[in-house]
Amino acid sequence: MNSITIARPDDWHVHLRDDDMLEQVVEFTARQFARAIVMPNLKPPVINIERAIAYRDRILAACPEQYDFTPLMTAYLTDTTDPAELERGFAAGVLTAVKLYPANATTNSAAGVSSVDAVRGCLEVMQRIGMPLLVHGEVVDPAIDIFDREAVFLERVLAPMIADFPALKVVLEHITTADSVDFIMASTTPLAATITAHHLQVNRNHMLVGGIRPHYYCLPIVKRASHQQALRDAATGGDTRFFLGTDTAPHPITGKHSACGCAGVFTAPCALESYVQVFDEENALDKFEAFASFNGPAFYGLPVNTGTLTLTRTPTKVGGDLGEGDAAIRPYRMGETLPWSVA
Ligand code: DOR
Ligand code: ZN
Repeated sequence: MNSITIARPDDWHVHLRDDDMLEQVVEFTARQFARAIVMPNLKPPVINIERAIAYRDRILAACPEQYDFTPLMTAYLTDTTDPAELERGFAAGVLTAVKLYPANATTNSAAGVSSVDAVRGCLEVMQRIGMPLLVHGEVVDPAIDIFDREAVFLERVLAPMIADFPALKVVLEHITTADSVDFIMASTTPLAATITAHHLQVNRNHMLVGGIRPHYYCLPIVKRASHQQALRDAATGGDTRFFLGTDTAPHPITGKHSACGCAGVFTAPCALESYVQVFDEENALDKFEAFASFNGPAFYGLPVNTGTLTLTRTPTKVGGDLGEGDAAIRPYRMGETLPWSVA
């Protein structure tokens, strides 16, 4: 197969940032995806309806007019979030979902949740109204090794939470382990997962052997090859609970090339090209459309997009850094020639 046409896909996990960086990056998502779930970890975070509307307006203002792009907004859950605010935002169509960051798990998560107990009232309401909870699934216990933080989260946090809220729609975001794949597949509650292109393509050897590659550093951190293969099997295996979410997370190069570098991979410039390469390598191109365009909307209860997008087996070179000086950002796989292109 040298070409594949799919219903226009969506990206169920993006960081579009704000201000100048928003202007720089939004078109890379808008030109490939019809809709995107926008993460709320700005400074200050998007914690309510008012901030979500204002941020949505800034995204739409920054997005070049030729793209038909709909940002789907999320609220940043804190220990003091008012459940009624979530209910109002969901009913009004302003808030599509709620993001749970364990406090201090990742970039701009200091205002995150200290424990599930602190947000029971919110989860109760979300379960009742069918509002999805999007989870950054890592424990922050300093005693837990960074490579084990996702697996420990399943056991310590996710399993008890789901037992208490069995009808709550939950997306375990950017999964990185065979443990998470197994957990999702064994689940009998409305639990799904997004998988990034970089976690499908990169393992910790790529990041650490022969030198440290800061542009592969992200959270949850890339794991060993056997976990990477479990993710590839899950994405391409046809289970409808796995869907596309890039977690594209740009940082200035100055923040990446640092003695204490930022976590995040800017995959938006070659997201679909990277995903389709994985499906091709796994002989699963027939499963690509469901992963990219059907499974996400089905879970969120949204329609599939109208229109199509075509990818062809035509080599394409990923462009160079965007912006200059302190504002420069480096795309994932910069300068590499990829086997597939968006037509
Ligand atoms: O690598 C990451 N970058 N993981 C996250 O959870 C946050 C993100 C960011 O905002 O930079
Ligand atoms: Zn993210």
